[in-house]
Amino acid sequence: MKTLKALFVGVLAFATSSFAVDGFEVYKKYCSSCHLSEITMEKMKEIESMVKAGKKPPIKAPPFPEVSARIKYFYPKKEDFVKFVVDYITNPSAEKAKCLPMALKKFGVMPPIGKNMTEEEKLAVASWLYDNYNKKWEEFPMGKMKMMDMKMHHCDKNCGCKHKQREE
Ligand code: HEC
Repeated sequence: MKTLKALFVGVLAFATSSFAVDGFEVYKKYCSSCHLSEITMEKMKEIESMVKAGKKPPIKAPPFPEVSARIKYFYPKKEDFVKFVVDYITNPSAEKAKCLPMALKKFGVMPPIGKNMTEEEKLAVASWLYDNYNKKWEEFPMGKMKMMDMKMHHCDKNCGCKHKQREE
């Protein structure tokens, strides 16, 4: 069983690394207009306190280091992560979103960028998003606030996420 699993992981690693399309190139082409690929923790904290204070953030979407950590928090395994991202960028919705309700409210739901991308481009960028970052969600300012976690958060009227109905 162990060997089978190792073999599978090996094949997956090979399959995802041997794409003709480069994940970072795909990022630059389709994602960089909204998502930053790098950000310092200081800048993160600055933006998050602006958002908490009700100010408009200076960016259009959550930065990728944070997105990667957040999605890994829910899908630690690469295959699940990639599957989620490929689907999300093609058919995004507030229901599916794993980002914090506060981010959804501030930024709105992502447009279905993946509809104009090939399957290979989507797989390449999702795989790159997984591999390129190694920070854990708990290392981010928002990740430290356990109350903010989706499982126990309180949504307000404009949040649009499914927890609202559950808590009302
Ligand atoms: C027009 C702006 C825009 C572009 C371009 C864009 N995104 Fe997004 N993305 C957003 C916004 C806004 C959010 C936060 C709201 C949400 O989660 O839907 C987001 C969130 C995400 C999330 C987190 C989803 C979740 O669970 O909440 C992922 C993953 C993501 N984007 C991947 C990508 C990838 C990969 C690309 C390029 C192929 C891309 N985005 C291009 C605006 C954009």
